[in-house]
Amino acid sequence: MNQQELLQLASKKIEENKPLIAKDFNRLQFHLMPPVGLLNDPNGLIYFNGAYHVFYQWNPFDTTHGAKFWGHYTSKDLISWEEQPPALVPSEWYEKNGCYSGSAVEHNGKMYLFYTGNVKNEHNERQTYQCMAVSSDGITFEKKGPVIYLPDGYTPHFRDPKVWQQNGRWYMVLGAQNDQEEGQVVLYTSLDLENWEFKGPLAGGNLNGLGDFGYMWECPDLFRLGAQDVLLVSPQGLEPAGHLYQNLFQSGYFIGNWTPETNQYEHGPFIELDRGFDFYAPQTFEDDQGRRLLYAWMGLTDDTEAYQPTIANGWIHALTIPREIEIKGNKLYQKPAVELTHLRKSLDFQQQVSIENEVKTWTEINGTVSEIRLEMSQMEGTHFEITLRENLKLRFNQAEKLFTLERKSFKDGTTESRSCELPILTDIHLFLDTSSIEIFLNGGQEVMTARFFAEPFEQTITFSSNGKIDVFIEKWSL
Ligand code: FRU
Repeated sequence: MNQQELLQLASKKIEENKPLIAKDFNRLQFHLMPPVGLLNDPNGLIYFNGAYHVFYQWNPFDTTHGAKFWGHYTSKDLISWEEQPPALVPSEWYEKNGCYSGSAVEHNGKMYLFYTGNVKNEHNERQTYQCMAVSSDGITFEKKGPVIYLPDGYTPHFRDPKVWQQNGRWYMVLGAQNDQEEGQVVLYTSLDLENWEFKGPLAGGNLNGLGDFGYMWECPDLFRLGAQDVLLVSPQGLEPAGHLYQNLFQSGYFIGNWTPETNQYEHGPFIELDRGFDFYAPQTFEDDQGRRLLYAWMGLTDDTEAYQPTIANGWIHALTIPREIEIKGNKLYQKPAVELTHLRKSLDFQQQVSIENEVKTWTEINGTVSEIRLEMSQMEGTHFEITLRENLKLRFNQAEKLFTLERKSFKDGTTESRSCELPILTDIHLFLDTSSIEIFLNGGQEVMTARFFAEPFEQTITFSSNGKIDVFIEKWSL
């Protein structure tokens, strides 16, 4: 199908699905979602000409993965978003099975998109092309076709270009699988964005003594933060280890030092960015205020996708809230972008309370779409627990120094959990949407993200502890 036909078909799908979406109580209130169909990775994050642009992987035609479009939202304030026409549709031979993930940069007042043209040939073999598209207004894009072809030594699992400028040069990292079927990040450089020189692997494979670390690395992002170089990456093929790597695929980062001239990257250990159930393919960008903001897909390609109830209403998945990231010590901290305070409609509860051997509930705290902050001042028991809407349970076990999130599985309603080690608990910051939760612990030292599907009328939020706990609680309706 040509571009016009694909665009028309997509807008027909959007229109047809509007009544279903309007009655879906799981539709989120303050997260970016597809108007219809399936959303996955955030793409092309950029602040351009006074507006934030968030593009995303989008299959308008089904709630499964297919030939992806780039959907597009813009905002002046990170709060109210405008839906724009799709930026890229898979109309050309070099992208016919999907305009896959990528990034955006500004150059001479224009916006340049870099993305992967995904092609399956007649024998169902994959081909990959790194492509470029240009725009003057940030809304309509002119495709320039492939600028990079697959180099020797790599399989066609070679994708997700992230481009940036540093000291007058352009750089690109790509997610890759080498011929030994090891996941890697590779580097290219360019002086003009059109001619790219291959500089070889930057991380993964056997570099830096990492050893066996997955068969494919997706969606890399390399950026300087403070005095360090952070590499985000989404490796596939890590085995669960204790509380680590519990999801099918992981997303995390290395902190280190990268030398552009030699492409040496010395780095520390891989650290997971989020310890919940639904988080993948994070990407960052620097905005006009010099903040490094992160969005991720609040989902994952795994066997739970098929059980999400929103499928019945013609859509699936969402992006996380925007999070500002900072380095503290050897860790990335994430905190909700400060603009999110503008979502607050009313302060329903603000009190210093004590809880001891009882289940406490306050009617003002009950609800669905809300922000809740807790500051712990004293904790004598071993357990502190919050239950939400008869579906989620958050528990800090002080004796084991473990924070656990439980939810009812989409598949069969049984309880499933994710845990992370936490030496002490000082504060909890929750962002609750109709069917999602984002939990920021200790000022963003750990974050847990999950979708959950509770009964719409069930709004109870309770607190309990097996010893005296003093806590300052604030709750806003959003
Ligand atoms: C990550 C990913 C990317 C790819 C895109 C396709 O979720 O698999 O590697 O470009 O999704 O939609």
